[in-house]
Amino acid sequence: MDMPDKPFLRALAGEAVWPPPVWLMRQAGRYLPEYRIVRAQAGDFISLCTDPELATEVTLQPLRRYGFDAAILFSDILMVPWAMGQPLRFAEGEGPLLEPLRDSAAIGALEVDRVVERAAPILETVRRLSATLAVQHQRTALIGFAGAPWTVACYMVDGRGGGEFPHTRRLSYADPALFARLIRTVSDATVEYLLAQAENGAEALMIFDSWAGLLPPAGFRRWVIEPTAELVRRLRKRLPEGFPIIGFPRLAGPMLVEYVARTGIQAVGMDTAMDPRWAAANIPAKVALQGNLDPQALVAGGPGLEAEARALLAAMRGRPFVFNLGHGIVPQTPPEHVAALVRTVRAG
Ligand code: CP3
Repeated sequence: MDMPDKPFLRALAGEAVWPPPVWLMRQAGRYLPEYRIVRAQAGDFISLCTDPELATEVTLQPLRRYGFDAAILFSDILMVPWAMGQPLRFAEGEGPLLEPLRDSAAIGALEVDRVVERAAPILETVRRLSATLAVQHQRTALIGFAGAPWTVACYMVDGRGGGEFPHTRRLSYADPALFARLIRTVSDATVEYLLAQAENGAEALMIFDSWAGLLPPAGFRRWVIEPTAELVRRLRKRLPEGFPIIGFPRLAGPMLVEYVARTGIQAVGMDTAMDPRWAAANIPAKVALQGNLDPQALVAGGPGLEAEARALLAAMRGRPFVFNLGHGIVPQTPPEHVAALVRTVRAG
Protein backbone atom coordinates (compact mmCIF):
# COMPACT_ATOMS: atom_id res chain seq x y z
CA MET A 1 0.00 0.00 0.00
CA ASP A 2 1.22 3.55 -0.75
CA MET A 3 2.10 5.65 2.29
CA PRO A 4 -1.10 7.45 3.20
CA ASP A 5 -0.91 11.23 3.60
CA LYS A 6 -3.85 11.84 5.95
CA PRO A 7 -2.45 12.29 9.50
CA PHE A 8 -4.92 9.79 10.98
CA LEU A 9 -3.94 7.06 8.49
CA ARG A 10 -0.25 7.79 8.98
CA ALA A 11 -0.63 7.32 12.74
CA LEU A 12 -2.49 4.03 12.18
CA ALA A 13 0.34 2.94 9.87
CA GLY A 14 2.71 3.29 12.82
CA GLU A 15 4.10 6.82 12.44
CA ALA A 16 4.43 9.06 15.52
CA VAL A 17 2.62 11.99 13.86
CA TRP A 18 2.82 15.14 16.00
CA PRO A 19 0.64 16.95 16.92
CA PRO A 20 -1.44 13.78 16.91
CA PRO A 21 -4.58 13.41 14.82
CA VAL A 22 -7.79 13.85 16.81
CA TRP A 23 -11.41 12.69 16.62
CA LEU A 24 -13.93 11.83 19.35
CA MET A 25 -16.13 8.78 19.82
CA ARG A 26 -19.79 9.81 19.34
CA GLN A 27 -18.62 13.12 17.85
CA ALA A 28 -21.95 13.33 15.99
CA GLY A 29 -24.71 13.43 18.56
CA ARG A 30 -27.00 15.12 20.99
CA TYR A 31 -24.47 17.62 22.39
CA LEU A 32 -24.71 19.46 19.03
CA PRO A 33 -27.82 21.64 18.51
CA GLU A 34 -27.63 21.06 14.75
CA TYR A 35 -27.78 17.28 15.38
CA ARG A 36 -30.90 17.64 17.53
CA ILE A 37 -32.64 19.49 14.69
CA VAL A 38 -31.91 16.72 12.15
CA ARG A 39 -32.74 14.03 14.73
CA ALA A 40 -36.18 15.61 15.28
CA GLN A 41 -36.71 15.80 11.52
CA ALA A 42 -35.86 12.10 11.07
CA GLY A 43 -38.29 10.91 13.74
CA ASP A 44 -36.72 7.80 15.18
CA PHE A 45 -33.05 6.85 15.41
CA ILE A 46 -33.19 3.90 12.96
CA SER A 47 -34.77 6.14 10.32
CA LEU A 48 -31.87 8.55 10.79
CA CYS A 49 -29.29 5.74 10.40
CA THR A 50 -30.99 4.48 7.21
CA ASP A 51 -31.53 7.86 5.52
CA PRO A 52 -28.37 8.50 3.45
CA GLU A 53 -28.99 12.24 3.15
CA LEU A 54 -29.57 12.83 6.86
CA ALA A 55 -26.92 10.34 8.04
CA THR A 56 -24.36 12.02 5.76
CA GLU A 57 -25.35 15.42 7.12
CA VAL A 58 -24.96 14.47 10.80
CA THR A 59 -21.62 12.74 10.12
CA LEU A 60 -20.31 15.96 8.59
CA GLN A 61 -21.65 18.35 11.27
CA PRO A 62 -18.76 17.91 13.75
CA LEU A 63 -16.21 18.23 10.91
CA ARG A 64 -17.53 21.66 10.00
CA ARG A 65 -17.13 22.87 13.56
CA TYR A 66 -13.86 21.23 14.53
CA GLY A 67 -12.08 19.90 11.41
CA PHE A 68 -11.46 16.51 13.01
CA ASP A 69 -8.89 14.17 11.42
CA ALA A 70 -11.43 11.36 11.14
CA ALA A 71 -15.15 11.11 10.45
CA ILE A 72 -17.01 8.08 11.76
CA LEU A 73 -19.96 6.84 9.76
CA PHE A 74 -23.21 7.75 11.52
CA SER A 75 -24.86 4.43 12.31
CA ASP A 76 -24.98 2.04 15.27
CA ILE A 77 -23.50 -1.32 16.25
CA LEU A 78 -27.06 -2.66 16.57
CA MET A 79 -27.75 -2.20 12.87
CA VAL A 80 -26.16 -5.66 12.34
CA PRO A 81 -28.78 -7.53 14.44
CA TRP A 82 -31.41 -5.28 12.84
CA ALA A 83 -30.15 -6.23 9.37
CA MET A 84 -30.28 -9.93 10.37
CA GLY A 85 -33.99 -9.44 11.10
CA GLN A 86 -34.01 -9.15 14.91
CA PRO A 87 -36.68 -6.60 15.91
CA LEU A 88 -35.01 -3.44 17.30
CA ARG A 89 -36.22 -0.09 18.51
CA PHE A 90 -34.69 2.83 20.35
CA ALA A 91 -37.06 3.94 23.08
CA GLU A 92 -36.76 7.57 24.23
CA GLY A 93 -34.68 7.70 27.41
CA GLU A 94 -34.30 3.89 27.52
CA GLY A 95 -31.74 3.19 24.82
CA PRO A 96 -31.95 0.17 22.51
CA LEU A 97 -34.58 -2.56 22.96
CA LEU A 98 -34.36 -5.83 21.02
CA GLU A 99 -36.54 -8.91 21.13
CA PRO A 100 -34.34 -11.13 23.37
CA LEU A 101 -32.87 -14.11 21.58
CA ARG A 102 -32.23 -17.12 23.83
CA ASP A 103 -32.76 -20.39 21.97
CA SER A 104 -31.57 -22.33 18.99
CA ALA A 105 -34.68 -21.59 16.90
CA ALA A 106 -34.23 -17.83 17.33
CA ILE A 107 -30.55 -18.05 16.37
CA GLY A 108 -31.43 -20.23 13.36
CA ALA A 109 -33.93 -17.60 12.20
CA LEU A 110 -31.27 -14.88 11.84
CA GLU A 111 -30.80 -13.94 8.18
CA VAL A 112 -27.04 -13.51 7.76
CA ASP A 113 -27.31 -13.62 3.97
CA ARG A 114 -29.49 -10.55 3.85
CA VAL A 115 -27.30 -8.19 5.91
CA VAL A 116 -25.50 -6.40 3.07
CA GLU A 117 -28.75 -5.98 1.14
CA ARG A 118 -30.61 -4.55 4.17
CA ALA A 119 -27.63 -2.32 4.95
CA ALA A 120 -27.79 -0.78 1.45
CA PRO A 121 -28.82 2.70 2.70
CA ILE A 122 -25.92 2.69 5.18
CA LEU A 123 -23.49 1.74 2.39
CA GLU A 124 -24.94 4.56 0.30
CA THR A 125 -24.10 6.92 3.19
CA VAL A 126 -20.51 5.60 3.13
CA ARG A 127 -20.26 6.35 -0.61
CA ARG A 128 -21.63 9.89 -0.19
CA LEU A 129 -19.27 10.58 2.71
CA SER A 130 -16.28 9.29 0.80
CA ALA A 131 -17.13 11.56 -2.15
CA THR A 132 -17.74 14.61 0.07
CA LEU A 133 -14.55 14.22 2.12
CA ALA A 134 -12.50 14.03 -1.08
CA VAL A 135 -13.72 17.51 -1.98
CA GLN A 136 -14.44 19.34 1.28
CA HIS A 137 -12.33 17.75 4.03
CA GLN A 138 -9.22 16.39 2.40
CA ARG A 139 -7.23 15.74 5.58
CA THR A 140 -10.11 13.79 7.15
CA ALA A 141 -10.27 9.99 6.90
CA LEU A 142 -13.49 7.97 6.96
CA ILE A 143 -13.93 5.28 9.64
CA GLY A 144 -16.38 2.42 9.17
CA PHE A 145 -17.28 0.31 12.20
CA ALA A 146 -19.17 -2.57 13.74
CA GLY A 147 -19.62 -4.01 17.20
CA ALA A 148 -17.47 -6.99 18.15
CA PRO A 149 -19.39 -10.30 18.27
CA TRP A 150 -19.36 -10.44 22.11
CA THR A 151 -20.79 -6.94 22.62
CA VAL A 152 -23.41 -7.35 19.89
CA ALA A 153 -24.41 -10.72 21.39
CA CYS A 154 -24.86 -9.00 24.78
CA TYR A 155 -27.59 -6.79 23.34
CA MET A 156 -29.09 -9.63 21.26
CA VAL A 157 -29.48 -12.03 24.19
CA ASP A 158 -30.40 -9.60 26.97
CA GLY A 159 -32.47 -7.43 24.65
CA ARG A 160 -31.46 -4.18 26.35
CA GLY A 161 -28.48 -2.27 27.72
CA GLY A 162 -27.93 -1.70 31.42
CA GLY A 163 -24.34 -2.79 31.70
CA GLU A 164 -24.67 -6.19 33.39
CA PHE A 165 -26.09 -8.46 30.66
CA PRO A 166 -26.88 -11.31 33.08
CA HIS A 167 -28.72 -13.48 30.53
CA THR A 168 -25.84 -13.34 28.06
CA ARG A 169 -23.21 -14.17 30.65
CA ARG A 170 -25.28 -17.06 32.06
CA LEU A 171 -25.93 -18.45 28.57
CA SER A 172 -22.19 -18.43 27.81
CA TYR A 173 -21.66 -20.81 30.78
CA ALA A 174 -24.91 -22.81 30.58
CA ASP A 175 -24.77 -23.61 26.85
CA PRO A 176 -21.37 -22.66 25.38
CA ALA A 177 -22.08 -24.57 22.16
CA LEU A 178 -25.24 -22.57 21.50
CA PHE A 179 -23.50 -19.35 22.48
CA ALA A 180 -20.59 -20.17 20.15
CA ARG A 181 -23.13 -20.60 17.34
CA LEU A 182 -24.53 -17.15 18.03
CA ILE A 183 -21.01 -15.63 18.08
CA ARG A 184 -20.23 -17.36 14.79
CA THR A 185 -23.46 -16.06 13.23
CA VAL A 186 -22.76 -12.48 14.32
CA SER A 187 -19.17 -12.81 13.05
CA ASP A 188 -20.31 -14.04 9.63
CA ALA A 189 -22.64 -11.05 9.28
CA THR A 190 -20.02 -8.62 10.60
CA VAL A 191 -17.31 -9.73 8.13
CA GLU A 192 -19.57 -9.02 5.17
CA TYR A 193 -20.86 -5.76 6.64
CA LEU A 194 -17.37 -4.39 7.36
CA LEU A 195 -15.97 -5.46 3.98
CA ALA A 196 -18.89 -3.72 2.27
CA GLN A 197 -18.05 -0.51 4.17
CA ALA A 198 -14.41 -0.75 3.06
CA GLU A 199 -15.46 -1.43 -0.56
CA ASN A 200 -17.69 1.63 -0.50
CA GLY A 201 -15.07 4.06 0.78
CA ALA A 202 -14.27 3.53 4.48
CA GLU A 203 -10.51 3.98 4.98
CA ALA A 204 -10.21 2.31 8.38
CA LEU A 205 -12.45 -0.06 10.36
CA MET A 206 -13.08 0.04 14.09
CA ILE A 207 -14.41 -2.86 16.15
CA PHE A 208 -16.24 -1.74 19.31
CA ASP A 209 -16.19 -4.26 22.17
CA SER A 210 -17.79 -2.04 24.79
CA TRP A 211 -18.59 -4.88 27.22
CA ALA A 212 -15.36 -6.90 26.91
CA GLY A 213 -14.52 -6.02 30.52
CA LEU A 214 -17.45 -8.04 31.90
CA LEU A 215 -15.63 -11.31 31.24
CA PRO A 216 -13.14 -13.17 33.46
CA PRO A 217 -9.86 -14.15 31.70
CA ALA A 218 -11.01 -17.51 30.28
CA GLY A 219 -14.19 -15.98 28.89
CA PHE A 220 -12.26 -12.99 27.64
CA ARG A 221 -10.02 -15.31 25.63
CA ARG A 222 -12.88 -17.39 24.29
CA TRP A 223 -15.50 -14.71 23.54
CA VAL A 224 -13.44 -11.54 22.96
CA ILE A 225 -9.94 -12.45 21.76
CA GLU A 226 -10.69 -15.56 19.66
CA PRO A 227 -13.71 -14.18 17.75
CA THR A 228 -11.92 -10.86 17.15
CA ALA A 229 -8.75 -12.61 15.95
CA GLU A 230 -10.86 -14.72 13.59
CA LEU A 231 -12.77 -11.64 12.39
CA VAL A 232 -9.52 -9.79 11.67
CA ARG A 233 -8.11 -12.84 9.86
CA ARG A 234 -11.18 -13.11 7.65
CA LEU A 235 -11.15 -9.36 6.91
CA ARG A 236 -7.44 -9.29 6.07
CA LYS A 237 -7.86 -12.07 3.53
CA ARG A 238 -10.11 -9.79 1.50
CA LEU A 239 -8.86 -6.25 2.33
CA PRO A 240 -5.96 -4.43 0.64
CA GLU A 241 -2.64 -5.07 2.39
CA GLY A 242 -2.11 -2.87 5.44
CA PHE A 243 -5.75 -1.74 5.64
CA PRO A 244 -6.05 -0.32 9.18
CA ILE A 245 -8.24 -2.02 11.78
CA ILE A 246 -8.71 -0.51 15.26
CA GLY A 247 -9.83 -2.65 18.20
CA PHE A 248 -11.56 -1.29 21.29
CA PRO A 249 -11.95 -3.95 24.00
CA ARG A 250 -13.26 -1.63 26.69
CA LEU A 251 -12.09 -2.30 30.26
CA ALA A 252 -9.76 -5.09 29.12
CA GLY A 253 -7.14 -4.01 31.67
CA PRO A 254 -3.93 -6.08 31.39
CA MET A 255 -5.68 -8.50 28.97
CA LEU A 256 -5.08 -5.78 26.38
CA VAL A 257 -1.56 -7.15 25.82
CA GLU A 258 -2.85 -10.59 24.82
CA TYR A 259 -5.65 -9.02 22.76
CA VAL A 260 -3.18 -7.01 20.66
CA ALA A 261 -0.75 -9.91 20.25
CA ARG A 262 -3.39 -12.49 19.24
CA THR A 263 -5.49 -10.28 16.93
CA GLY A 264 -2.58 -8.58 15.16
CA ILE A 265 -4.59 -5.38 15.07
CA GLN A 266 -2.75 -2.13 14.00
CA ALA A 267 -4.33 0.12 16.60
CA VAL A 268 -6.14 -0.17 19.90
CA GLY A 269 -8.47 2.11 21.80
CA MET A 270 -7.67 2.82 25.45
CA ASP A 271 -10.72 3.21 27.71
CA THR A 272 -10.93 5.87 30.41
CA ALA A 273 -9.63 3.54 33.15
CA MET A 274 -6.44 2.61 31.25
CA ASP A 275 -3.15 4.22 32.32
CA PRO A 276 -1.64 5.54 29.07
CA ARG A 277 1.88 5.14 30.49
CA TRP A 278 1.19 1.48 31.23
CA ALA A 279 -0.14 1.03 27.67
CA ALA A 280 2.90 2.81 26.19
CA ALA A 281 5.19 0.47 28.13
CA ASN A 282 3.29 -2.74 27.40
CA ILE A 283 1.86 -2.45 23.88
CA PRO A 284 4.37 -2.84 20.99
CA ALA A 285 5.64 0.54 19.74
CA LYS A 286 4.39 0.00 16.20
CA VAL A 287 0.78 -0.40 17.40
CA ALA A 288 -1.07 2.91 17.48
CA LEU A 289 -2.84 3.81 20.72
CA GLN A 290 -6.08 5.77 20.64
CA GLY A 291 -7.86 7.48 23.55
CA ASN A 292 -8.51 8.13 26.37
CA LEU A 293 -9.52 11.44 27.91
CA ASP A 294 -12.37 11.10 30.42
CA PRO A 295 -15.58 12.31 28.68
CA GLN A 296 -16.54 14.01 31.97
CA ALA A 297 -13.35 16.13 31.87
CA LEU A 298 -14.68 17.43 28.57
CA VAL A 299 -17.99 18.33 30.21
CA ALA A 300 -16.11 20.13 32.99
CA GLY A 301 -13.87 22.13 30.65
CA GLY A 302 -11.50 24.87 31.91
CA PRO A 303 -8.09 24.24 33.47
CA GLY A 304 -9.05 20.69 34.53
CA LEU A 305 -9.65 19.71 30.92
CA GLU A 306 -6.47 21.43 29.78
CA ALA A 307 -4.37 19.65 32.42
CA GLU A 308 -5.81 16.22 31.56
CA ALA A 309 -5.27 16.73 27.83
CA ARG A 310 -1.68 17.86 28.36
CA ALA A 311 -0.87 14.91 30.60
CA LEU A 312 -2.22 12.51 27.97
CA LEU A 313 -0.21 14.22 25.22
CA ALA A 314 2.94 14.00 27.34
CA ALA A 315 2.39 10.27 27.97
CA MET A 316 1.93 9.55 24.24
CA ARG A 317 4.61 11.75 22.74
CA GLY A 318 6.99 9.87 20.45
CA ARG A 319 4.69 7.00 19.56
CA PRO A 320 1.87 6.49 17.05
CA PHE A 321 -1.15 8.00 18.78
CA VAL A 322 -4.66 9.20 17.97
CA PHE A 323 -6.16 11.62 20.47
CA ASN A 324 -9.68 10.61 21.51
CA LEU A 325 -11.89 10.09 24.56
CA GLY A 326 -11.91 6.93 26.66
CA HIS A 327 -15.61 6.42 25.80
CA GLY A 328 -18.28 8.33 23.89
CA ILE A 329 -18.90 12.05 24.28
CA VAL A 330 -21.94 12.67 26.53
CA PRO A 331 -24.95 14.86 25.61
CA GLN A 332 -24.17 17.39 28.42
CA THR A 333 -20.87 18.39 26.73
CA PRO A 334 -20.69 22.11 25.86
CA PRO A 335 -19.61 22.37 22.18
CA GLU A 336 -17.14 25.16 23.05
CA HIS A 337 -15.24 22.74 25.33
CA VAL A 338 -14.69 20.50 22.31
CA ALA A 339 -13.26 23.48 20.40
CA ALA A 340 -10.92 24.26 23.32
CA LEU A 341 -9.77 20.63 23.46
CA VAL A 342 -8.99 20.54 19.74
CA ARG A 343 -6.92 23.75 20.12
CA THR A 344 -4.93 22.19 22.97
CA VAL A 345 -4.25 18.99 20.99
CA ARG A 346 -3.26 20.88 17.86
CA ALA A 347 -0.83 23.00 19.89
CA GLY A 348 0.86 19.66 20.65
O1 CP3 B 1 -20.46 9.67 16.22
C1 CP3 B 1 -20.27 8.43 16.30
O2 CP3 B 1 -19.52 7.90 17.14
C2 CP3 B 1 -20.88 7.54 15.23
C3 CP3 B 1 -22.05 6.81 15.50
C4 CP3 B 1 -22.18 5.78 16.62
C5 CP3 B 1 -23.38 5.68 17.38
N1 CP3 B 1 -23.28 4.57 18.16
C6 CP3 B 1 -24.51 6.60 17.28
C7 CP3 B 1 -25.54 6.63 18.34
C8 CP3 B 1 -21.33 4.74 17.03
C9 CP3 B 1 -19.91 4.43 16.60
C10 CP3 B 1 -22.06 3.98 18.01
C11 CP3 B 1 -21.53 2.76 18.65
C12 CP3 B 1 -22.30 2.10 19.71
N2 CP3 B 1 -23.67 1.98 19.81
C13 CP3 B 1 -21.72 1.36 20.77
C14 CP3 B 1 -20.24 1.15 20.98
C15 CP3 B 1 -19.58 2.32 21.62
C16 CP3 B 1 -20.02 2.59 23.05
O3 CP3 B 1 -20.64 3.66 23.24
O4 CP3 B 1 -19.73 1.78 23.92
C17 CP3 B 1 -22.79 0.85 21.54
C18 CP3 B 1 -22.65 0.01 22.82
C19 CP3 B 1 -24.01 1.24 20.92
C20 CP3 B 1 -25.39 0.88 21.34
C21 CP3 B 1 -26.21 2.07 21.63
N3 CP3 B 1 -26.67 2.97 20.70
C22 CP3 B 1 -26.70 2.49 22.91
C23 CP3 B 1 -26.43 1.78 24.21
C24 CP3 B 1 -27.44 3.65 22.69
C25 CP3 B 1 -28.25 4.42 23.72
C26 CP3 B 1 -27.40 5.30 24.57
C27 CP3 B 1 -27.42 6.69 24.05
O5 CP3 B 1 -26.36 7.33 24.02
O6 CP3 B 1 -28.51 7.17 23.71
C28 CP3 B 1 -27.39 3.98 21.31
C29 CP3 B 1 -27.99 5.13 20.64
C30 CP3 B 1 -27.11 6.00 19.83
N4 CP3 B 1 -26.13 5.55 18.97
C31 CP3 B 1 -27.15 7.42 19.75
C32 CP3 B 1 -26.18 7.82 18.83
C33 CP3 B 1 -25.88 9.22 18.37
C34 CP3 B 1 -28.13 8.31 20.49
C35 CP3 B 1 -29.45 8.20 19.80
C36 CP3 B 1 -30.25 9.50 19.76
O7 CP3 B 1 -29.83 10.43 19.06
O8 CP3 B 1 -31.28 9.50 20.40
